[in-house]
Amino acid sequence: KIARQVQELLDKMTLAEKVGQTNLYNGTWEFTGPVPADDNSQEKAELIKNGGVGGMLNVLTAKGTREAQKLAVENSRLGIPLIFGYDVIHGYRTMLPVPLAQAASWDPEVARKGAEVAAREAAASGLHWTFSPMIDISRDARWGRIMESAGEDAFLTSVMTKAWVEGYQGEDLSAVHTIAACAKHFAAYGFAEGGRDYNTVQISDQTLYNVVLPPFKVAADAGVATFMNAFNELNGVPANGSEFLQRDILKGKWGFDGFVVSDWGSIGEMITHGFAANDKDAARKAMRAGSDMDMEARAYEKHLEALVSSGELDEKILDDAVRRILTIKFKLGLFEDPYRYCDEQRESESIGTTENLAVAREAGRKSIVLLKNDKGLLPLPKDVKSIAVIGQLANSKDVPLGSWRAQAVTNSAVSVLEGIESAVSSDTEVTFAKGYTLTTGRRTFIHELTIVPEDETGFDEAIAVAKSAEVTVLVLGEDCFQTGEGRSQTDIQLKGSQLALFRELMKVNQNIVVVLMNGRPLAIPELAAEAPALVETWFAGSQAGHSIADVLFGKYNPSGKLPVSFPYHVGQEPLYYDRKSTGRPQTNATDDGLVFWSHYTDAPNEALYPFGYGLSYANFAYDQLKLSKSDNGVTVSVSITNTSSLDGIETVQVYVHDVVASWTQPTKRLVAYKQVELKAGSTYTVEFELTEQELGFYHQGYEFYAEDGTFVVMVGGNSRDVLKKSIDLSF
Ligand code: IFM
Repeated sequence: KIARQVQELLDKMTLAEKVGQTNLYNGTWEFTGPVPADDNSQEKAELIKNGGVGGMLNVLTAKGTREAQKLAVENSRLGIPLIFGYDVIHGYRTMLPVPLAQAASWDPEVARKGAEVAAREAAASGLHWTFSPMIDISRDARWGRIMESAGEDAFLTSVMTKAWVEGYQGEDLSAVHTIAACAKHFAAYGFAEGGRDYNTVQISDQTLYNVVLPPFKVAADAGVATFMNAFNELNGVPANGSEFLQRDILKGKWGFDGFVVSDWGSIGEMITHGFAANDKDAARKAMRAGSDMDMEARAYEKHLEALVSSGELDEKILDDAVRRILTIKFKLGLFEDPYRYCDEQRESESIGTTENLAVAREAGRKSIVLLKNDKGLLPLPKDVKSIAVIGQLANSKDVPLGSWRAQAVTNSAVSVLEGIESAVSSDTEVTFAKGYTLTTGRRTFIHELTIVPEDETGFDEAIAVAKSAEVTVLVLGEDCFQTGEGRSQTDIQLKGSQLALFRELMKVNQNIVVVLMNGRPLAIPELAAEAPALVETWFAGSQAGHSIADVLFGKYNPSGKLPVSFPYHVGQEPLYYDRKSTGRPQTNATDDGLVFWSHYTDAPNEALYPFGYGLSYANFAYDQLKLSKSDNGVTVSVSITNTSSLDGIETVQVYVHDVVASWTQPTKRLVAYKQVELKAGSTYTVEFELTEQELGFYHQGYEFYAEDGTFVVMVGGNSRDVLKKSIDLSF
């Protein structure tokens, strides 16, 4: 039915009206007030009224979107409604943990429920469309946007992707609590050279097909409404201009029927890439390649009409783009009622609710990864006599909200200090000291944020507080605006005087729990060696302090696992677990002191904390790995015993190595996992079926199949500590 309605509408449209649908504008003014005369808003308002705009981004609230919608619906000839998009990356008002943190839960329900909350709040604020999920595989901790991703692994990212898309879109896109999702950035943006944002990407077909594309295919298969292409070029062709990515793969092989939006101004950036001669050339190349909507380059607006009229661009190509855009608008129900999302009553009832905050708290605690607990310092007893809470980050009500925080209210998060204060008994003395200075003043979009002062003025107070406390909780890490778009870094150690403070505190109180708050893997070998307890909490969202306290005091037994490898040193980056063997892997040669193998002479090859790593307050022992041939591949079974006296959750991970293949394969590749709840003292047997789907890979020409031969199957609680067995298989 929608196809027919779209065609009928398309038949009525003039060329200019068609071009209008491909034009996505930033909403630069407050729609509930008068249109300002002193910028280009007047011009934009006129264009909307003339049917020259298809959608807007950054127009917010039920009232604001209603006013903007009116301009289009009540003035333009055909009254085609606008689509309103926004970066709802990990929540709208209620902040869920940042996406990297959500991925650390390895729990798709965390992603799904979080996206449902984000969608409900955004839709109540008049929005139809989020520019999320970001599913760029991110192997380089220097890249600031690693925080927005699900980390380094294609399989884990795929699991989270499906849940995010389903969470945002629900079963019915026209329902007033769901929004259209956008799989971004297509493709390979996370492989920017040197981790420097927007940089050139040169990767092999093998990596593209097997590492970068799989989560995007999952998004397309899950019915994601839109894709966003990318700022980067891929092997010589900017993503906007890539017919291979957009026409051959996405709309061809995958049969994607939604639309592709460009990233901000990126169609025009094909000129600076050296791929298009001017705006007009860029517009032609991008439209031909399958970029359906132009976000703020204004190249389509200016040139598409002329390109079609002169015959330089086939109108059928434009029709295809418009058809896709209109289809999503129909699916959102905007033609039935363009104001269906503009309900102020719903807006006032649905945003920042207690239920939404409860989802954020649960997501936060499931995202936390326990890295070390040597002296059994954790969980802390609730009736501990005194706790010193130290560090600027411990008292921050803002940093846990993360970067890309949509409409979160500044300083609205529960701080670690507040979380601890509300978790302890009234007899516990909680004392705070700032200790170090990480940031001062305005923090967004500030380049200087990377330069953190080596300031020791807070040390004396912190030392005194730690000295007299039974336990110290020291919060270290980075400001949330040290990660995010345009915030790549070459130094991923703790900045400023944080480590120096840690050393001083260790001299006076050895009972230190270090709580990390950061949006990327950090190089923290000294903490890993010296701190008795180490807890990775990322930017855990609106309820961060409560989520963290839940873990510190054992109300929640930690179950998170790292979605990214933590290095010893930044020089190891890009660091990821699914590496290949090389011709000279580590061998016994090292015993002879020889150097002629693939390694660094001043740092290990391996991660400090590997992908998939994370402890629990319970202990799990793996045993009895068994492989048996099945009709379609292999059945894997393993037994896991909770050897402790506490119930806990373990994520059982299965990795494979296809030993000899026509395209050499990684020595380990995650192909399946299950989360199991294990009662204290109990043993469970967990089974997995691995078929061609898990054991195969994409070959030259984007052909997927498995090759006969020997497979090593590895099972464990992280990518390093595994049981292994081999099996010969044919398909
Ligand atoms: O959605 C984002 C994108 O990820 C980066 N550039 C700007 C877009 C819209 O804000």
